[in-house]
Amino acid sequence: MSNVRNVPGGALKPADDLVISRMGYGAMQLAGPGVFGPPRDRDQALAVLREAVELGITHIDTSDFYGPAVVNELIREALHPYPDALRIATKVGARRDGTGGWIPSVEPEDLEAQVRENLWHLGLDVLDVVYLRLGSVEGTGEESIAEAFGALAELRERGLIRHLGLSGVSGTQLAEARSIAPVVAVQNLYNLVKRQDDVLVDRCAAEGIAFASFFPLGGFTPLQSGELAGVAARLGASPQQVALARLLRRSPTSVLIPGTSSVAHLRENVAAAALELPADALAELDGIAA
Ligand SMILES: NC(=O)c1ccc[n+]([C@@H]2O[C@H](COP(=O)([O-])OP(=O)(O)OC[C@H]3O[C@@H](n4cnc5c(N)ncnc54)[C@H](OP(=O)(O)O)[C@@H]3O)[C@@H](O)[C@H]2O)c1
Repeated sequence: MSNVRNVPGGALKPADDLVISRMGYGAMQLAGPGVFGPPRDRDQALAVLREAVELGITHIDTSDFYGPAVVNELIREALHPYPDALRIATKVGARRDGTGGWIPSVEPEDLEAQVRENLWHLGLDVLDVVYLRLGSVEGTGEESIAEAFGALAELRERGLIRHLGLSGVSGTQLAEARSIAPVVAVQNLYNLVKRQDDVLVDRCAAEGIAFASFFPLGGFTPLQSGELAGVAARLGASPQQVALARLLRRSPTSVLIPGTSSVAHLRENVAAAALELPADALAELDGIAA
């Protein structure tokens, strides 16, 4: 693993043949309300994706269950044929019902179907990174993931997937998965106020595994904090920029996938990668969770 500069936030290399910008882009918000159906503004969604690449982002996070299929098809329309450096990380392990409800689905047969649907909708022959999505948005579990992760490891052996990740995972499950196949990335809920995974963040750093925080800005419930607003005002930055800058510096393997459906917000978020945080600001921000 090594860090290199020249993309937003610098680049992280969690595997010999995998280099990603530490400032990535999370595409979930491009679907319609409730991550279901088409976007309100299709042209704007396509513009956000193209601008992300223009700004140097080489790491887009998606899933076929966003929409479903809507977000992957937008990515394909906006960016295919893909730039050489672009790495698209996707997730499997859930389906949507007819009203947008989320249904966990980790049976090996359906995992293969989900991988193939991602390939098809993204227009790819092989997926760069596939996360096995576990648990709920808020929490992780301790049940064995050997069967599901083993199924993805087999698809990797068969050449449909280059690298594997885990989302919504506990430390125990991460260890179990790593006894089956290499894990390049973990994607869990983590931000300035949700820091239950502090130990896992440090463990991923120690083991060279990328840690992608989902809901870095609070997701559907924007981060609200007087301390955050105060630090942002002092630094002449937005609270969102300060929140992202702190997460980026949280560990050497932290990677960010903030979501937005706005080109202006995207530019603001990417600019946050260059925001310096003085020691007193860091201390104040780190006190928020406590
Ligand atoms: N593994 C999982 O289970 C899981 C779960 C959830 C999400 N994810 C991934 O994580 C990514 C990030 O999560 P997320 O997009 O839900 O939440 P997020 O990044 O925490 O927040 C997105 C929200 O913040 C707003 N926002 C973004 N930049 C802003 C700015 N500069 N100023 C003001 N508001 C701003 C967006 O609204 P606008 O559109 O108006 O900018 C949107 O409502 C997703 O895109 C997805 O790829 C994974």
